Amino acid sequence: MNILFAASEVAPFIKTGGLADVAGSLPQALAAQGHDVRVVLPLYEGVGAPWREKMDFLFHFHATLAWRTPYCGVFSLKREGITYYFIDNEYYFKRGQIYGHYDDGERFAYFSRAVIELCGHLDWKPDILHANDWQTALVPIYLLEARYYIPQLANTRSVFTIHNIEYQGRYGKEILVDLLGLNPSYLNEKMLAYYGDVNLMKGAIYAADFVTTVSPTYAQELHYSFYAHGLEGVISDCQSKIVGILNGVDTSLYDPARGQKIAASYTHNKLGGKKTCKQALQQAVGLREDPSVPLIACVSRLVSHKGFDLLTAALPNLMDMDLQMVVLGTGDWKYEEAFRTAAAQYPGRFSAQLMYSASLSNAVYAGADLFLMPSVSEPCGLSQMIAMRYGTLPIVRETGGLKDTVIPVGLPDARGFTFADINANDMSHVIWEATQLYRNDPKQWKKLQINGMTADFSWKGPAKKYLDIYHRLTGK
Ligand code: GLC
Repeated sequence: MNILFAASEVAPFIKTGGLADVAGSLPQALAAQGHDVRVVLPLYEGVGAPWREKMDFLFHFHATLAWRTPYCGVFSLKREGITYYFIDNEYYFKRGQIYGHYDDGERFAYFSRAVIELCGHLDWKPDILHANDWQTALVPIYLLEARYYIPQLANTRSVFTIHNIEYQGRYGKEILVDLLGLNPSYLNEKMLAYYGDVNLMKGAIYAADFVTTVSPTYAQELHYSFYAHGLEGVISDCQSKIVGILNGVDTSLYDPARGQKIAASYTHNKLGGKKTCKQALQQAVGLREDPSVPLIACVSRLVSHKGFDLLTAALPNLMDMDLQMVVLGTGDWKYEEAFRTAAAQYPGRFSAQLMYSASLSNAVYAGADLFLMPSVSEPCGLSQMIAMRYGTLPIVRETGGLKDTVIPVGLPDARGFTFADINANDMSHVIWEATQLYRNDPKQWKKLQINGMTADFSWKGPAKKYLDIYHRLTGK
């Protein structure tokens, strides 16, 4: 089967969040099953020179975006069995940040249009066109008509994956004809119309032949306005073509046995190296070097839906307990400020690493005892799975993929700690219980670690589920 995967970020070329990890590892898992998988992404300024040197320039064309005919260069490289296409347009993509520009709507409309028109220039017919999140939401929408005039797309089916429904791509309706180049009839309730505006994610849910989201629990939660941010009615309307498939993680990248970027390697039956990692982490981030005190870590963007209001509310309470904390990440000023203050107030016990660092994050996954994710909502979450791979026990709120991956203490095969309500006291209580278990029951602690480290978080199972959908849609 031929599969074209479109995403606005793809690891290892360019990454701001979990979407890049998925776009960087799901295609590999599909290719490993013998399929021809290709991935298309924008050629941002941030795609580094070492990658650019490996690229070939294939051809260029001019895309059609209403009255605009923007240049579209196509570069390509092959890596681990996957062909990557990079869409080059310096006006849209030669910018410092990949998101957050006044014209993001236009930039990603252009990219989506380029993905569709690219197919018309290839000697290859995708059976499946798989788009992700609002940035590529127009791909399944454009396909509705493009299948009739681009021969390569005549039999192509579309899949749209929701990684986070909070970001929908909502714009004034004046963009419909003038920018998106769509017929005014697309502004209807079963397509793009949304309270007088255009909503790209809504349109994609209606237009796609199939819709997935990144965990079974999130798929259920999306029926409620609290989680669906206004699209709950659309989800219910389309529920017969929506399923939740849990993400996997790149198990070779996150493997304590390989010891990449960590102080010592270890495995589930030889955990000794983890002690070295803890000491190295304490040293690296300025925490008191003490093997006996439980060390709790957060690695996250510091934004409200990740549950940082709970953490900042609970901080004084938590720091009354005998524990250490390290927070790694950047985000909203109010959380950064709260963590800077805590670091000053509790030297040697609270460490604020307000930056993005892939190498430090590995050291944190390996060196911490506990990994905290109190998310208000979490479509899937990858960090809790990565933490478990490193024998670091997760403490999570029971939402989305967190609920689907962390089996709490008390149940068979337990591998972590959970709490149900968005409540700082409930969270503190579970953290206290976790620290007690750490101190008083090393045997059970080790059991929990081993359960997490030996759980299957690979892409094997999930990739099979995606393939089942592709087969069903194409009849192949
Ligand atoms: C988004 C979600 C996160 C998910 C990731 C990959 O970043 O917020 O929960 O793991 O996408 O699907």
